[in-house]
Amino acid sequence: MDLKHKKVMITGGSAGIGKALIKELITQGVKDFAVIGRSQDKLNALTEEFEEVNFILVPGDVSKLNAIENFVKEVSNNWSHIDLLINNAGVVSADSLQEMTDEDIVDQININLTGLILLTKKALPLLLKSDEAGLMNISSGLGYIAKPFYSVYAATKAGVRHFSEAMRRELIFENIHVMTVYPTATDTDMMSSAKVDQMDSPELVAKKSVDGLLNKEINVILGGEQRIKDIDTNFNHPLKIDKSVKENYEAYKERTEAHRAM
Ligand SMILES: NC(=O)c1ccc[n+]([C@@H]2O[C@H](COP(=O)([O-])OP(=O)(O)OC[C@H]3O[C@@H](n4cnc5c(N)ncnc54)[C@H](OP(=O)(O)O)[C@@H]3O)[C@@H](O)[C@H]2O)c1
Repeated sequence: MDLKHKKVMITGGSAGIGKALIKELITQGVKDFAVIGRSQDKLNALTEEFEEVNFILVPGDVSKLNAIENFVKEVSNNWSHIDLLINNAGVVSADSLQEMTDEDIVDQININLTGLILLTKKALPLLLKSDEAGLMNISSGLGYIAKPFYSVYAATKAGVRHFSEAMRRELIFENIHVMTVYPTATDTDMMSSAKVDQMDSPELVAKKSVDGLLNKEINVILGGEQRIKDIDTNFNHPLKIDKSVKENYEAYKERTEAHRAM
């Protein structure tokens, strides 16, 4: 896939992994981006940071159907098609299920999963007009291996994994490469309230994701060989992961109890 002259629609491109993806795609020759995010200020800052790029900046919340429709309408008014849709916007709230507010449960599901599905549906006609298109969905390592205190977040990210897989097969006769990215802990605003020793940089996640797109990979899994082994263990011997959780339960709880980025 040659990314020069491609038109990219991305959710949550105003910070973290999404902004690093924009930067990486610019190095590949992309000049046209349509970005949705809730904060107009963060969107506006993109035009100062990346002066050479043409932006369609649309303030809005991907959990709201009218914001999704408005985003697609703004893009359709300016472009005849899109070549790449990146569903990246996401939020997290860690807690035991009983302690988590109902609002955080509903918002995580609506932002991370329902919004992603609805935007994909509404943007698909534009993607189908491309000669060579990509659909990149950002899941999480927790979409493969669920951890305690992330029950709702993990459910949304496993949902993203399965949605991607189904869409890849549903679109098998189309010119759309469907792929999923599974970042591990990454040093972004989302992680500022979590206690983690080692994190990937958003630039690394973006580079691996774009390399994956260019190489037509279907799953880009961050976290190295150990993560691949853990996914295999979780699938074939899930009780081994349970045992490790049991032994480290209090440490898990302590590390995650303040983790919230909504
Ligand atoms: N960081 C990690 O450790 C990690 C690990 C695994 C997976 N991920 C996933 O990677 C993706 C990006 O995460 P990140 O770490 O880059 O997060 P981040 O630094 O918090 O950035 C999130 C971006 O999404 C936007 N956003 C959030 N909620 C939105 C909404 N309702 N509507 C529209 N835009 C919204 C934010 O802008 P506004 O706030 O202005 O809306 C921001 O641009 C997420 O899907 C996340 O779940 C992250």
